[in-house]
Formats: sequence, C-alpha cells, structure tokens
Amino acid sequence: MKRKLVTSLVAALMAVCFVSVAVYAGTQAADTITMNTKAYAKHTKGLVTFSHKVHAEEYGISCGDCHHDDKGTPLALKGGEDVQSCVACHKDTGKKPKGEKLSKKDKIAKYHKEALHANCIGCHKAFNKKNGLKSKDPKAAPQSCKSCHPKKG
Ligand code: HEC
Ligand code: HEC
Ligand code: HEC
Ligand code: HEC
Repeated sequence: MKRKLVTSLVAALMAVCFVSVAVYAGTQAADTITMNTKAYAKHTKGLVTFSHKVHAEEYGISCGDCHHDDKGTPLALKGGEDVQSCVACHKDTGKKPKGEKLSKKDKIAKYHKEALHANCIGCHKAFNKKNGLKSKDPKAAPQSCKSCHPKKG
C-alpha cells in the first residue's frame, strides 16, 4: 500500500515536470536570433546575430525595453505571449531618401533599420558611456557597423 502511494507520487511529480517543461519550451523566444527580416529585398550588410536570451537574462534587460505595443508603450511580458516582429509596425525596409524631411521620432517610426539601430545602438552607446568604455574596448557593447554586421564572405 505504502509502495503504491510512493509510486503514484513519483508519477504525479513526473507529470508536473513534464508539463512545465513542455510549456517552457513552447513559449520562449529562440536563445539566439539571426536578424534576417524577410521584408528586405536583400540585405546589403552581413546578418546580425542577436543573443536574445543573454540580453534578457544575463544583462537583465526587461522585455519592455525592446518590445512595445502599437502606441510604443512597453509591454510587460512574462514569456509565453505572442510577440509581433518589429517590421509589423516599423514597416519600411527601404532607405530614407536624402530629401525626405522627418523628425528623428518619425524616422524611427517609419523605417525598420532606423528603429533597430535606435534600439540596439542607442542602448549600447548609453551603456558604454555609463561605464566609461570607448567603442573600441573589447568589453564595450558593439557600436561599430562591423561589430554587429560581420563582413559578407
Ligand atoms: C534587447 C532587446 C530585447 C529584449 C530585452 C527582449 N527581446 Fe524579445 N526580441 C527582440 C528582437 C529584436 C526580436 C526579433 C524581432 C524581429 O525579428 O522583428 C525578439 C523576438 C522575440 C520573440 C519572437 C520569437 C522569436 O524567436 O523570434 C518573442 C516571443 C520574444 N522576443 C519575447 C521576449 C520576452 C518574453 C522577453 C523578456 C523576457 C524579451 N523578448 C526580451 C528583442 C528583445
Ligand atoms: C505594434 C507596433 C510596434 C511593434 C511591433 C514595434 N514597434 Fe517600435 N514603436 C511603435 C510605435 C507606435 C512607436 C512610437 C512612435 C512615436 O513615439 O511616435 C515606436 C517607437 C519605437 C522606438 C523609439 C522609442 C523611443 O523611446 O524613442 C524604437 C527604437 C522602436 N520602436 C524599436 C522597435 C523594435 C526594436 C521593435 C521590435 C523588437 C519594435 N519597435 C516593435 C510601434 C511598434
Ligand atoms: C537596453 C539595452 C540593450 C539593448 C536594447 C540591446 N543591447 Fe546588445 N548589449 C547590451 C549590453 C549591456 C551588452 C553587454 C556589453 C558588455 O558587457 O560587454 C550588449 C552586448 C551585445 C553584443 C555583444 C555580446 C553579445 O551578447 O552577443 C551584441 C552582438 C549585441 N549586444 C547586439 C544587440 C542587438 C542586435 C540589439 C538590438 C536588436 C541589441 N544588442 C539591443 C545592451 C543592450
Ligand atoms: C548593435 C548592432 C548594430 C550595429 C552597431 C549596426 N547595425 Fe545595422 N542593423 C542591425 C540590425 C539588428 C538590423 C536589422 C536586420 C534585420 O532585421 O534583418 C540592421 C539593419 C541594417 C541595414 C538594413 C539591412 C541590410 O543589410 O541592408 C543596413 C543597411 C545597416 N543595418 C547598416 C549599418 C551600418 C552602415 C552600420 C554602422 C554605421 C550599422 N548598420 C551598425 C544592427 C546593427
């Protein structure tokens, strides 16, 4: 009788583990994302490898620092929600024509590349400044083109 109880307890525990693992695996973003937004007719620069998990966990950046809603308000994500790709709203994958007069804000709202650069490079610059790191310092967060876009082979 006692043995039976232990067995069913173990079975129940295993079931719990199984369920939580399944949920975890199904709802996390990929640990590393190769930024290859399909809306670009072609990428002129090498593809950027973005360590999503490291940014969110090791660097302790909150989801809402990068993910926001259709008004630009940070999203309070717990993990598991669907997240729209940046290009769903920052739609234009073209290059801003020289003559087009836009405020910095409107430029970011419109152009995908401007939004990504403002987010990624904006934070990296602030981080380096705060920590007294020059952009060439190996410990610096990447600011230069080739530190994010590897040379095309
Ligand atoms: C430093 C910026 C940053 C942080 C912090 C961040 N994300 Fe992301 N996340 C991105 C980018 C960039 C993408 C790719 C979007 C695209 O391709 O348009 C992405 C993609 C995703 C996706 C889509 C799945 C995939 O693999 O493409 C999910 C889901 C997601 N993030 C959830 C989260 C959650 C939950 C958190 C907090 C725990 C979080 N993100 C933190 C920038 C970030
Ligand atoms: C659901 C639509 C939507 C999605 C998806 C979206 N954005 Fe935005 N984003 C906006 C809006 C709206 C604003 C605010 C524009 C304004 O203030 O005029 C904004 C503003 C920004 C800004 C400027 C923020 C500031 O403080 O100046 C950056 C940078 C940015 N987005 C980057 C991203 C990145 C990177 C992603 C993908 C991880 C993303 N956006 C996904 C709609 C979106
Ligand atoms: C809110 C701040 C923040 C944002 C947004 C952010 N980063 Fe970072 N990133 C960091 C910090 C902090 C480091 C670590 C710097 C160090 O300790 O050397 C880093 C490091 C990196 C590195 C080098 C080490 C690694 O983890 O791979 C790459 C590449 C990188 N970021 C790419 C990106 C890209 C691409 C984006 C935009 C999609 C982005 N980051 C957005 C803060 C940010
Ligand atoms: C912190 C990382 C980072 C740095 C530094 C950076 N970029 Fe980017 N860049 C990105 C990301 C992420 C994208 C979006 C790619 C995608 O979603 O497909 C992008 C997109 C682009 C695109 C549009 C896609 C393409 O390949 O044609 C161009 C052009 C570009 N970057 C040029 C530059 C130039 C020039 C510099 C230096 C002045 C630079 N980038 C610096 C992260 C970075």
